[in-house]
Amino acid sequence: MLNIKEIQTIEQDVIVIGAGGAGLRAAIESSAQGLRTGLVCKSLLGKAHTVMAEGGVAAAMGNVDKRDSWKFHFRDTMRGGKFLNDWLMVEHHAKESPDRVRELEEWGAVFDRTKEGLISQRNFGGHRFPRLAHVGDRTGLEIIRTLQDHGIHQGMDIYMEVTALELLKDGDRICGVLAYYRETGRFVIFKCKAVILATGGGGKAWKITSNSWEYTGDGYALAYEAGAELMDMEFTQFHPTGMVWPLSVKGILVTEGVRGDGGILLNNKGDRFMFKYIPEKFAPETADTVEEANRWLKADKNARRPPELLTRDVVAKAINAEVKAGRGSPHGGVFLNIATQLPGDIIKKKLPSMYHQFKELAEVDITKDPMEVGPTLHYFMGGVRVNPHTQESTTVPGLFAAGECSAGMNGANRLGGNSLSDLLVFGRLAGIGAKEYITKLSGSVNINEDQVTTAIRKATDILNREKGTNPYLIHEKLQETMQDNVGIIRIEKELETALSDIEKLKAEAALVKAPGSSQYNPGWHEALSLHSMLVTSEAVARAALIRQESRGGHTREDFPDESKEWVKYNIVSKKGPDGKMITEKLMKMDPPEHLRLIADASLEDLEAGKI
Ligand code: FUM
Repeated sequence: MLNIKEIQTIEQDVIVIGAGGAGLRAAIESSAQGLRTGLVCKSLLGKAHTVMAEGGVAAAMGNVDKRDSWKFHFRDTMRGGKFLNDWLMVEHHAKESPDRVRELEEWGAVFDRTKEGLISQRNFGGHRFPRLAHVGDRTGLEIIRTLQDHGIHQGMDIYMEVTALELLKDGDRICGVLAYYRETGRFVIFKCKAVILATGGGGKAWKITSNSWEYTGDGYALAYEAGAELMDMEFTQFHPTGMVWPLSVKGILVTEGVRGDGGILLNNKGDRFMFKYIPEKFAPETADTVEEANRWLKADKNARRPPELLTRDVVAKAINAEVKAGRGSPHGGVFLNIATQLPGDIIKKKLPSMYHQFKELAEVDITKDPMEVGPTLHYFMGGVRVNPHTQESTTVPGLFAAGECSAGMNGANRLGGNSLSDLLVFGRLAGIGAKEYITKLSGSVNINEDQVTTAIRKATDILNREKGTNPYLIHEKLQETMQDNVGIIRIEKELETALSDIEKLKAEAALVKAPGSSQYNPGWHEALSLHSMLVTSEAVARAALIRQESRGGHTREDFPDESKEWVKYNIVSKKGPDGKMITEKLMKMDPPEHLRLIADASLEDLEAGKI
């Protein structure tokens, strides 16, 4: 008989799950608010997808172009997100990100500088002005390093290589987390008053992704099982430039900073093809001749922007179309050339990681030759639906989410660099939200023993089955169906195929087998992560099937245009009373008037300060 008194129980006020930028920033805030804070991470501290945001953190500091302000950042983010974003989150983010960047500098982050000694800012897709504060092409890494150092000194308990299995509830509200140590397989109960999810995305459900093994959608599944709503899951971002070869590194990110610093995209005919893909709506801001685009490279502030710096959804689809039309590179991508645009020593200085990455992994010297690149699943715009003022789940008291794990800020498409500012701004807000929640909480929380024993039995059954499917095979089949049927371009029939495949895989996963003990058992870890990937994939495919239009990171071949009707809705998934997923349309709130005016304003009016 399983006795939960024998399971290690650790008490904290707040447990943060995930130790990337959002988790670290949330834990720092929670601890600074005087709460006993535990940070649980599946991997090692510092091993986070945050480091894949290489090119910079977006903040309207105006260091390189004084015209920039929060209003331009707000406008760019809403337009980039195709107006499906949560207006209040975007306002808060645009106003606060400069302070969060300056705070990082106070905590020891060493940003690149302008000649005047200010934090340097570079161009990125969809941002009107050079706005990305950066550390070469290692910005995410520097942010993680800084937050880790600060966090350790701030004071928090860190539990590494610990995977969360289930959120524990006392009635409706959160009371803890059941988890296990990956090394020993031992279970552990974290008893706490609030949980902040900061688990990143679920790119590992696709074959080609910039995400590493940790990104199996754990936060989405934990929240869903606890009764939270998942929103905007159909919007998955394919970063236009991942490596396409060698096969062993396919999908690894090639920073947008390469294009931000002048890199151009070419097909196998040598054509700079992005000029053909400029959408009507962006035409006024985008150069339509090479000469004009080159003026921009010479730092002519009034020149229009090159089409390589259109938003990621546009560039990824253009590359996809060129490859499909037979104009791709030898390994199924296109060419990205910085060698013809900048002197070699400058490339090495501005893009040191890219230089080494290509030299070491592909034997390409990017100061001399072009890179081969293609789209890679990089980021989820969707996630846990939260209150924009607190980051608390809309349906589960005591559950908070921040960063990629939460929805709202990025709408249908995220602008590059907004992920780093998002995780700083909303990680902090989640910490404050948890403090406010705990301050008002009445009575103590109690762990429900039945919930714990049922979850443990479910996990250990996998080890005890005599027959069952190999978890790695289930994962591989899932990746195939998601890549083939829920990719950049979607169509009803293929989405239905994906959903029927997911149903079959759910049945297989219910009987998965990982022989051996729970100690040092990677097959068991893989088996346990299948549930998260399947919940995530189902939510994405169902929402993608319902949204009958193309918008941002969601393109339907059978509904190729944006629809005026669909901008009024988000799509939300939650667990129904019968245990099955319910997916439905949710009417969006009207924006406050002052924000609508900024979003609709012309650039000239904003620049002239008329709005
Ligand atoms: O391309 C990049 O450096 C990625 C940045 C981001 O995803 O924000």
